[in-house]
Amino acid sequence: VEETLVLVKPDGVARNLTGAILARIEAKGYSLVDIRLVQPDRSVLAAHYAEHEGKPFYEPLVEFMLSGPIVAIRVAGDRVIEGFRSLAGTTDPTTAAPGTIRGDFGRDWGLKVQQNLVHGSDSPESAARELALWFK
Ligand code: GTP
Ligand code: MG
Repeated sequence: VEETLVLVKPDGVARNLTGAILARIEAKGYSLVDIRLVQPDRSVLAAHYAEHEGKPFYEPLVEFMLSGPIVAIRVAGDRVIEGFRSLAGTTDPTTAAPGTIRGDFGRDWGLKVQQNLVHGSDSPESAARELALWFK
């Protein structure tokens, strides 16, 4: 069965949306295989976001991800990688479709970083790499 890494980012945890996000994953029929509350160090985030190093939003993104606890979840199910990204909605929370996590709970807050509540792996290769990183 396919697995993906879901993160409830610091904005989602701080706004007490973890339960609502987990409820959507479970209601879709996916299984929670493992879950932990993490305060990652910078090296984990540098590895997690290596593909974005050098982009203008990279530093604010890393600072944001260090700003509070994150909930890391190992989620399993057929086509869960695509399925969770569909539940999450598009990257920009202001325009993400209503009915998605980002569309229903997210918006811009006038900051340099898009605070979009969740992360979901974008391919089987990313999922394997990210699960090894967050569930060592
Ligand atoms: P993740 O599931 O978090 O990986 O989101 P994604 O796959 O929809 O986006 P991507 O991997 O391209 O970017 C990672 C994160 O960087 C996003 O979730 C945003 O928080 C942030 N980000 C991406 N693109 C932009 C951008 O153009 N501007 C800003 N300010 N932030 C961005
Ligand atoms: Mg991504």
